[in-house]
Amino acid sequence: MFELYLDTTDLQQISRFNKSLPLKGITTNPSILAKSGIGLNDTLSECTKILGPETRFHVQTVSKTTQEIIKEAEVLHQLPYDIVVKIPATEIGLAAIKHIKTNNKPVLATAIYSVQQGFLAALCGADYLAPYVNRIDAMGANGIDVVADIQRLLERHNLSSKLLPASFKNTRQVMEILKLGVESITLPVDVAAQLFAHPSVQPAVDQFDQDWQAVFGDKLSFES
Ligand code: G3P
Repeated sequence: MFELYLDTTDLQQISRFNKSLPLKGITTNPSILAKSGIGLNDTLSECTKILGPETRFHVQTVSKTTQEIIKEAEVLHQLPYDIVVKIPATEIGLAAIKHIKTNNKPVLATAIYSVQQGFLAALCGADYLAPYVNRIDAMGANGIDVVADIQRLLERHNLSSKLLPASFKNTRQVMEILKLGVESITLPVDVAAQLFAHPSVQPAVDQFDQDWQAVFGDKLSFES
């Protein structure tokens, strides 16, 4: 089942998009939490009030050594939420992922900028891989190609990691990624909003209103 996430902890936006999108949960990172100024515990509890107890949270560690990441992940996994621990796919991060997966706890390898990083994280057993599509594009490489190549390697080597591409600036990037058949995605709120926006939609709806009212006034469909 496809998993759709919002890459934000903005409660107003989460509440807004939860009304019209089937959200699996929320992805966050240290920058997102720092920007909101609200700590993890309050964020988890407030988001759960909006999204419900089945919500999945992807929460990133901030520790700097493998041992510390492992300890931090252990505490995060004990919190009373569905938490996938995000760990940057650095050398020390991969060591932590490899260790944590011996206990089969859910882990996402994040900050993926290259195919090899994604492949190694998958070999270490990461459940999710988060390549940063727009950030790769912004460096002059091709984020969509990176995701496509990781996907190819996952299939070729029968690896079970799910791609959860992150970092989008426009709907073209999102649609190209979805066409690859990835199993999950996380959207920033501005791009989620752009997905609804098409210049022809509202004029079409307005025309329906106008045609209807010209003949049936304020009647509802079943009153006509
Ligand atoms: O968690 C990673 C993702 O949020 C990066 O997105 O928009 O900062 O490139 P962005």
